[in-house]
Amino acid sequence: MGKQRVLSGVQPTGNLHLGNYLGAICNWVEIQENYENFFCVVDLHAITVPHNPKTLAQDTYTIAALYLACGIDLNHSTIFVQSHVTAHSELAWLLNCITPLNWLERMIQFKEKALKQGENVSVGLLDYPVLMAADILLYDADRVPVGEDQKQHLELTRDIAIRFNDQFATPENPVIKVPDPLIRTEGARVMSLTDGTRKMSKSDPSDLSRINLLDPPELIEKKIKRCKTDPIRGLEFDNPERPECNNLLGLYGLLSGKTKQEVIEECQEMGWGKFKPLLSETTVEALKPIQIKYQEIMDDQDYLNSVLREGKEKAETVANHTLARVKEALGYLAPF
Ligand code: TYM
Repeated sequence: MGKQRVLSGVQPTGNLHLGNYLGAICNWVEIQENYENFFCVVDLHAITVPHNPKTLAQDTYTIAALYLACGIDLNHSTIFVQSHVTAHSELAWLLNCITPLNWLERMIQFKEKALKQGENVSVGLLDYPVLMAADILLYDADRVPVGEDQKQHLELTRDIAIRFNDQFATPENPVIKVPDPLIRTEGARVMSLTDGTRKMSKSDPSDLSRINLLDPPELIEKKIKRCKTDPIRGLEFDNPERPECNNLLGLYGLLSGKTKQEVIEECQEMGWGKFKPLLSETTVEALKPIQIKYQEIMDDQDYLNSVLREGKEKAETVANHTLARVKEALGYLAPF
């Protein structure tokens, strides 16, 4: 039997932050040897909120280069751009027609993002999870490694797959594979530096709320120096009164590779004045090799183009195959 498949993706909206890195990409890198992996840059999702056409292509390159710089290995993984494989849009349309509207209206992320958009909510924003389902289902993915915030979208993906099979297949011969989420316990929800009760997010208007993977050392130091803390002495995990403390200690553990126990032994007596420089230094050191590799890859545009060209071909072969199966089940006349 071949390896199980994994699919995941990140939107090319600006930079990647520590939430994307620790919640998703680190997990991809850790598990990649055990699976056949497809990692896409989900540029179709990036225009579900107002976007800048002048930067979209460059942002797409940035994310693809960051995948490689973070350790995605082409011996195990395929990297491609979502819009280069047209089957994603086509399957999204087909799935739209079997997805009840009220399933989408219930999505928490839609409600949150729609609030921010005011009058400007596009149909695409509502439809975002169906396109995400198409991304996953096209590759017959067994597992989908994501951060905690994507859990509801994955449940919806499973519901769509089950509904499709109920309506257009038999239990013995399902047409669509029902995927499982893969959410790690540590790092699945990295919180904002300015408010430990909110998740670190690309859409937070304040750049001080997040550390981006490409932030230079001085900026990382500045952000950590300014980040929100509390006046309580000593440092501890899991005190609901101290969300910032929990988040910052968690970040330190993940970035230094230390266990919770080791972090506590080292830091419980520290004050913020001592801990913050330690966290800054650890973050800068953890990101340094990624930043160096990123620059090397971005300086070799031909290489990056060839990765994406090959990725498109591999992804397309798998995706077109699934799409044909789905269309057949729906009763479409095949092209001659
Ligand atoms: P995006 O770009 O918003 O997020 C990419 C990944 O980063 C995770 N993440 C976090 N993890 C921990 N703490 C945080 N503060 C944090 N913020 C973001 C997200 O959970 C995600 O794994 N809808 C997807 C993109 C997508 C996708 C897919 C993912 C489109 N199609 C198919 C998997 C499979 C998203 O949230 O992108």
